[in-house]
Amino acid sequence: MRVLSVVGARPQFVKAALLSAELERRGIEEVLVHTGQHYDANMSDVFFAQLRIPEPAHNLGVGGGGHGAQTGEMLRRLEPVLEAERPDWVLVYGDTNSTLAGALAASKLHLPVAHVEAGLRSFDRTMPEEINRIVADHVADLLLVPNAAAAKQLAREGVTEGVRVVGDLMVDLAMRVSAQIPAHPAVLDRFEVQPKEYAVATIHRASNTDDPRTFGRLLEGLRGVGMPVVFPVHPRTRAIGQEFGAGNGDNIIVCEPLPYMEMMALLARSSALFTDSGGLQKEAFVMRVPCVTLREQTEWLETLEDGWNVLAGSDPEKIVRASKRITPMHQGTPYGDGHAAAKIAQALLERAPAYAA
Ligand code: UD1
Repeated sequence: MRVLSVVGARPQFVKAALLSAELERRGIEEVLVHTGQHYDANMSDVFFAQLRIPEPAHNLGVGGGGHGAQTGEMLRRLEPVLEAERPDWVLVYGDTNSTLAGALAASKLHLPVAHVEAGLRSFDRTMPEEINRIVADHVADLLLVPNAAAAKQLAREGVTEGVRVVGDLMVDLAMRVSAQIPAHPAVLDRFEVQPKEYAVATIHRASNTDDPRTFGRLLEGLRGVGMPVVFPVHPRTRAIGQEFGAGNGDNIIVCEPLPYMEMMALLARSSALFTDSGGLQKEAFVMRVPCVTLREQTEWLETLEDGWNVLAGSDPEKIVRASKRITPMHQGTPYGDGHAAAKIAQALLERAPAYAA
């Protein structure tokens, strides 16, 4: 069996790590395609190296641009690759423009599509990621969902065929990595912070970076939390961060995007996370670090239970208040049993139309 996996953005490299290894272990051939959506070395290469992901067989070099131009260019460059490779499965991850392009290009060529992280909804259609999720789910043949709640959501939308509950690759990796993080990781010395005496922040959603007023309010919130805040700045956020003087004489410590291992170590020993990222909300949950989400809603509803995650939007007062109230209690295991990669590989084998015979 041959699986063609489409990746392109940072969270997809993280998700691909465990599954690529599992496919290789089972002797399933994987053709990795990198769309080039994320191309800076610290957004892409360093993830491939640290997570030991194989070199992509195809790098489409699409780069940035508006949604139409970026997605359109991906479709244009993906089609001949899919036609030449004719895999048994085209596998896409998550909710980025690379997910949308991979799912759409494959389904138009009648190639079976498997969607990892299917069934999640923020119910906010102004988010490009929400549109990407919905379209990918509705063209996919195999919907690999993290839990029963996501399966239920698909059923509400009339999607019941080919749905498998598998858990969550990103959570599984974070769990493994978390066990190896020392009490005082070296990355803390770089920022001159002590365990549990600092917070971490990341901001990159279009809704938070495109409107200067919103970004200004977020920064005001972070400046009010009363401790150092290490802020690795996503390329999308670079210009506006400079414009607002983030890190100039305030409590914010600005740095370039961090490699995966350093980011996980920094997160694990922090006292709180402020983020608009989807993945980091789950990673904080795994590391038992309270999270303040800088959005009005989340697709990871389970993290809200028992106070591990609080939605603060971009209201500075709410951000400061949320950072003080955090007393999380019990924690469940809503994202599977640590074996998502094996379950996904098994589902691909069992449901592969061409391979079944
Ligand atoms: C994308 C995903 C989002 C995901 C995020 C993870 C979509 C719609 N959004 O958002 O779901 O959570 O990735 O980081 O797909 N840029 C660089 N260097 C890079 C990468 C990007 O300079 O290595 C620039 C781009 O040229 C663009 C901007 O940053 O101007 C935003 O990149 P883009 O790919 O549009 O989306 P993200 O904001 O990263």
